[in-house]
Amino acid sequence: MRTQVGIVGAGPAGLLLSHLLHLEGVESVVLESRSREAVEQTIRAGVLEQGTVDLLTSVGVGDRMQREGAVHHGIELRFDGRGHRIDFPSLTGGRAIMLYAQHEVLKDLIKARLEAGGDIRFEAPAVGLDDLDSDRPRVRFQQDGRDQELECDVVAGCDGSWGVCLPAIPADRRTEYHREYPFGWFGILAEAPQSSKEIVYTYHERGFALVSTRSPTVQRLYFQCEPDDEVGNWPDERIWAELRARLETRDGWTLAEGPIFQKGVITMRSVVCQPMQYGRLFLAGDAAHIVPATGAKGLNLAVADVVVLARALVERDRSGRTDLLDAYSDTCLRRVWRAQHFSWWMTSMLHRFPGDDPFQHQLQLSQLRYVASSPAAAASLAENYVGLPLERP
Ligand code: FAD
Ligand code: DHB
Repeated sequence: MRTQVGIVGAGPAGLLLSHLLHLEGVESVVLESRSREAVEQTIRAGVLEQGTVDLLTSVGVGDRMQREGAVHHGIELRFDGRGHRIDFPSLTGGRAIMLYAQHEVLKDLIKARLEAGGDIRFEAPAVGLDDLDSDRPRVRFQQDGRDQELECDVVAGCDGSWGVCLPAIPADRRTEYHREYPFGWFGILAEAPQSSKEIVYTYHERGFALVSTRSPTVQRLYFQCEPDDEVGNWPDERIWAELRARLETRDGWTLAEGPIFQKGVITMRSVVCQPMQYGRLFLAGDAAHIVPATGAKGLNLAVADVVVLARALVERDRSGRTDLLDAYSDTCLRRVWRAQHFSWWMTSMLHRFPGDDPFQHQLQLSQLRYVASSPAAAASLAENYVGLPLERP
C-alpha cells in the first residue's frame, strides 16, 4: 500500500489534517487503533477557540457546530464567594469561544472524509515506523489480524499521548520537557439544567472546580481531586456535596443537580517534545505536546499544528519547496510554549497545592483579584483564552 501522507491516529489532529490535504488534492490514509464508535463516543474537550471555529467553518465542516454549538462571550472567575466576569469581545476586539464537544467535531470530520471517499482504517493500530530518515518511510500496522505496511512520502504522527510515533524518534534526537501537577481532575456529565450561562472557574480552599455545559440539558463539571483518585471513591452524593461546597457564593447562587451518567479522572501534566520532527516524521497534537486542561488548549493546539503542517505539505506537493516543512517544528513550538505557559499559569492560579502554604494561597488570591479588577490583566487572560491568531510559517 502507498499514499502521499500516512496519518497515524484519527483524533482531531489526524482527521483534520486528512481533510485539509484532501481539499488541496493531497492524498492520505488514516490509521486508527480504535473502532469508529469508540472514537465518536469518547468524552473529552469542549472549548473551541475563535480561530478553530473560523477554520472548521471555512473548510466546510462547521455547519452542525454553528447550529448546535453555543457561542460564549465570557467566563466567570469565582473566588472569595463571588463571581467576576471576564468579557471577551470588549477585551479582544470582538472575539469569543464556542462550546461544542470534541467528539461532535470528530463525527463531523469522519462524515466529511468518508463522503469524499477518504481512506480511514478503524481498528488498524500502527505498530512501528521504519526508514523515517529515508525518502520512503513506512508504517507497519495490523488490520483484520494481518500485518500490513503503508509506504508514504511523509508520516504524520497524530496518535495522541500514548502513541507509537514519538517513541520512534531516537532518544538522542529529541528533548522532552515534562511537568507533573500534584492533582487530577474529576470530570462528570450530568443530566441537569444549566447553572450558569458561562463557564465558571472557581478557586476555593477545598480546591478548584469548574462548571461547563454541553447543552441546555447536559452539563459538564470538573473538580480538583487526588492525582491517583478513582471513580469508585466518588458516589454521586459525595460529588454533589463537594461541588456545592466549592462553588458556594454569598449571593445565593445554586448548583442545578441531576443524574450523573459519566465519570472519569484526568491527569494533569505538561509535556513538550522538541523538535516535533525527525526525518520524514512530523508529530502533531497530543503526540508532540500535552497541556493541563485548565486553559482548554489541547484540541486547539492540535488544530493549529495541522494547519501549519497541511500548508507546508501542500507547498511541497505543488512546488517541491520544503522550506515551510523544514520550519514546521519551530513555527508550531512558538504557539505550543505560549499555550504551555498560559495553561501552567491558569493551573497555578486556580488549584490548591499540597502542603497548605498560606503564602502561596495569598499570592493566588492576589493574582485573581488583579485579573478580576485590572482591564490590562483581564485582557491578557482573554487574549490567550480566545486564542492567538494561527501562526503563519
Ligand atoms: P487524540 O485525540 O488523543 O487522538 C489520537 C488518536 O490516535 C486516538 O484516536 C487514538 O486511538 C489513536 N492512536 C493511538 N495510538 C495509535 C496507534 N498506535 N495506531 C493508530 N492509532 C492510534 N482541549 C481543548 O482544546 N479544550 C478543552 O476544553 C479540553 N478539555 C479536555 C477535557 C478532557 C477531559 C480531556 C481528557 C482533554 C481535554 N482537552 C481539551 C485536550 C484534548 O482533548 C486533546 O488535546 C486532543 O484530543 C488532542 O487531539 P489529538 O488528535 O492530538 O490526539
Ligand atoms: C471544558 C474543559 C476544559 O479543560 C476547560 O478549561 C473548560 C471547559 C469542557 O470540557 O467544557
